[in-house]
Amino acid sequence: MWNYWLGGKDNYEADRVVGDQVREVYPTIVDVARHSRAFLGRAVRLLVQEAGLRQFLDIGTGLPTANNTHEVDQSVEPACRIVYVDNCSLSSNRVV
Ligand SMILES: C[S@@+](CC[C@H](N)C(=O)[O-])C[C@H]1O[C@@H](n2cnc3c(N)ncnc32)[C@H](O)[C@@H]1O
Repeated sequence: MWNYWLGGKDNYEADRVVGDQVREVYPTIVDVARHSRAFLGRAVRLLVQEAGLRQFLDIGTGLPTANNTHEVDQSVEPACRIVYVDNCSLSSNRVV
């Protein structure tokens, strides 16, 4: 659903149906998702461009969605590396 609300392409019909139902009772959820993701983008870009960071530890990653940390920082500096960590068994821990 988060991917759907963000305008991503990696979501299923069930995500879109339930996502629309959630939006019916919580109309600002799309703004919440987009502002949250926009903050992540601004923070990561600043850390790469102004602080010179090249390694990131993203704790509490959640399921992959749109504009993930590695997509943001590697779009600025391809040498960046990210370790994703989540304690949810549904998420895959990965190094990108
Ligand atoms: C609301 S989601 C946020 C996902 C993503 N960071 C975002 O901003 O869209 C919070 C995630 O944090 C994870 N989490 C919560 N406590 C954690 C912990 N102690 N260690 C690792 N992951 C944790 C949960 O499993 C969940 O996937």
